[in-house]
Amino acid sequence: MDYKKVSYKRLAESNQRKSDINFSWLSAAEKGIVFLLENGDELLVRRMDANDVEEVLEIERATFPAAWSSAGFFYRLHDRQFNVSLVAFVGDRLVAYAVSYAFSKEFHFSNVAVRRNFRRRKFGEVLLWMSLHIGVELGCTEAHLEVRRNNISAIRLYEKFGFKIYGVRKNYYQQENEDAFLMRKEIGWELPYGMV
Ligand SMILES: CC(C)(COP(=O)(O)OP(=O)(O)OC[C@H]1O[C@@H](n2cnc3c(N)ncnc32)[C@H](O)[C@@H]1OP(=O)(O)O)[C@@H](O)C(=O)NCCC(=O)NCCS
Repeated sequence: MDYKKVSYKRLAESNQRKSDINFSWLSAAEKGIVFLLENGDELLVRRMDANDVEEVLEIERATFPAAWSSAGFFYRLHDRQFNVSLVAFVGDRLVAYAVSYAFSKEFHFSNVAVRRNFRRRKFGEVLLWMSLHIGVELGCTEAHLEVRRNNISAIRLYEKFGFKIYGVRKNYYQQENEDAFLMRKEIGWELPYGMV
């Protein structure tokens, strides 16, 4: 299939305002879009569908001790108006996914994971970037997430996008007996196009 291709570096560094750009990331997710990365990777991102869930679960189970069940993913696929689940491919291989939803003005980034052997290639970053831009399109003004206190790689990723810790939920991840940091940032059309 012939997908639109965009340079992630050029997008992320752009100082244009989103309001000046006549482009919908939600439509791009519907059709599928290829991000060209600096290391030469071509990452296809599109909305998750029911056929992806099996592979997504494989990554989920290999990643999290308290993995979501298939019902958790299917539930999010059911309501496509406010739920945004993305999958990313290198060639035919599903290598990463991200799940988020809009609740009134709040955009909740609920879940992201990259296959272990494919980490540190900007795949998590691209998924977060695209999810947040879709959040703005859905009318959200704040992005929220929870992250394990000891999950340094994820915390660094969120900090890179300007998320700040504003609270702690004690023992939130009960199976691992671990606290969650609550993080948030403002998002909106008025912010520069790059790092929303
Ligand atoms: C967190 C995760 C999604 C990051 O995805 P990734 O594709 O490996 O990360 P990226 O290559 O996109 O990195 C983007 C930024 O995140 C930060 N980062 C990612 N991995 C990091 C690590 N191991 N150590 C420190 N910083 C890290 C860096 O700031 C990085 O920017 P840089 O490349 O300019 O230094 C991935 O490590 C993962 O799947 N972890 C397991 C699942 C998980 O913890 N999900 C988060 C639940 S809240």
